[in-house]
Amino acid sequence: MPVDILVGTQWGDEGKGKLIDVLTGDVDMVVRFQGGNNAGHTVEIGSERYVLHLVPSGIFRPGVRCVIGNGLVVDPIALVEELEGIRARGIAADNLELSDRAQLIFIYHKRADALNEKGAVRKIGTTGRGIGPAYCDKMRRSGIRGCDLCKPEILSAKFRAEAARYNKIFAEAGAELIDIEKELALVLEAAAKLAPLVRNTAYTIAQAVKEGKKILCEGAQGGLLDVDHGTYPFVTSSNTISGGACTGAGIPPTAVRNVYGVIKAYTTRVGEGPFPTELFDADGELLRARGREFGATTGRPRRCGWFDAVASRYSCMLSGVNKLVVTKLDVLDEFDEIAVCTAYEIDGVRTTEFPAAVEDLEKVKPVYEMMPGWKTALDAVTSADQLPENARKYLARMAELIGADIEIISVGPRRDQTFKA
Ligand code: IMP
Repeated sequence: MPVDILVGTQWGDEGKGKLIDVLTGDVDMVVRFQGGNNAGHTVEIGSERYVLHLVPSGIFRPGVRCVIGNGLVVDPIALVEELEGIRARGIAADNLELSDRAQLIFIYHKRADALNEKGAVRKIGTTGRGIGPAYCDKMRRSGIRGCDLCKPEILSAKFRAEAARYNKIFAEAGAELIDIEKELALVLEAAAKLAPLVRNTAYTIAQAVKEGKKILCEGAQGGLLDVDHGTYPFVTSSNTISGGACTGAGIPPTAVRNVYGVIKAYTTRVGEGPFPTELFDADGELLRARGREFGATTGRPRRCGWFDAVASRYSCMLSGVNKLVVTKLDVLDEFDEIAVCTAYEIDGVRTTEFPAAVEDLEKVKPVYEMMPGWKTALDAVTSADQLPENARKYLARMAELIGADIEIISVGPRRDQTFKA
């Protein structure tokens, strides 16, 4: 069974891009299966830093086939820009396929995203990329898809109809209207560039599975942002857990072998929503500064807090994580003591289960266990046996609380700052 899935286990930004890049050393194909350009996967190679939003992180490895699966919402103009940006830096980026079933994001989705946020009783703090509205259109069955990029007349008719529908909504809200023909011209220009990439990628993947090729599915965001299982309504609009790879790429569950769960040694979140272990003090500031915790897509400062074993265990359970990848361990280097949340107290009742209701999550009092810090710089550590004892104890406690083995440890942003546990 050649398919492995890699997912984020928290609220995104766990360092998946780098890990995918490290793991793609011996894979044949990298597949994205959900989300869109709300994701921002940072890959550092030597002194170069790349931020990918839609293109799978395998793009830097020559010979690795990259697939944008049916489960994504793809902004065609943003995809063309991203590809041109990568090519401008000397990377061929010619080994890419786009699913004919992927949903497309247009300007009206982005405008609707902004409008929803403006009028919302409870702002979600979206990335503003039109992700939610595009998934809404998918479910209301009026979405425009990858296959339409290959047929300019059909694309134009569908775009005009949908843009007109949105213009009515914008008019009612007193918002600016879309200049339909001007926007359509931009869409058609991007479509002409992307049409040669469009395929039924489920067949591409099935053929690769048949040939025993190694396939890595690259999750975006994290399990706690899953639309079904996360901190609803403060979630993204797709299934971010590993099961999303089956529906979002057309991969049968029987083809899946390992699930890698990427987990930061502490916790961060961008946007609104409950975050039980969030820190508002100097410790939080230190995490943000040392971890360079600013959004890769929006540049927003990330909220920072201690490792939350209740939330992470739940997310790893849902994804069936059997290989944990701990990132950013070095960010904890300067702390005398490190707190780990082992349970929640809600209205005086202790639980280790992750609640559904946002109202309960907002009331959580984290139950902390204190662990001694290691007060040693880890950024030059190259193997697990070089880790200080307290760092090893911390990792062992993380693994125990989650109930999965740690496979890989990362102590810095570069490819060479990663080693086997
Ligand atoms: P949307 O995905 O733009 O609709 O945003 C919904 C929520 O998911 C917001 O809280 C975003 O900040 C969050 N989100 C979306 N993409 C990412 C990501 O790649 N990393 C972290 N948070 C994300």
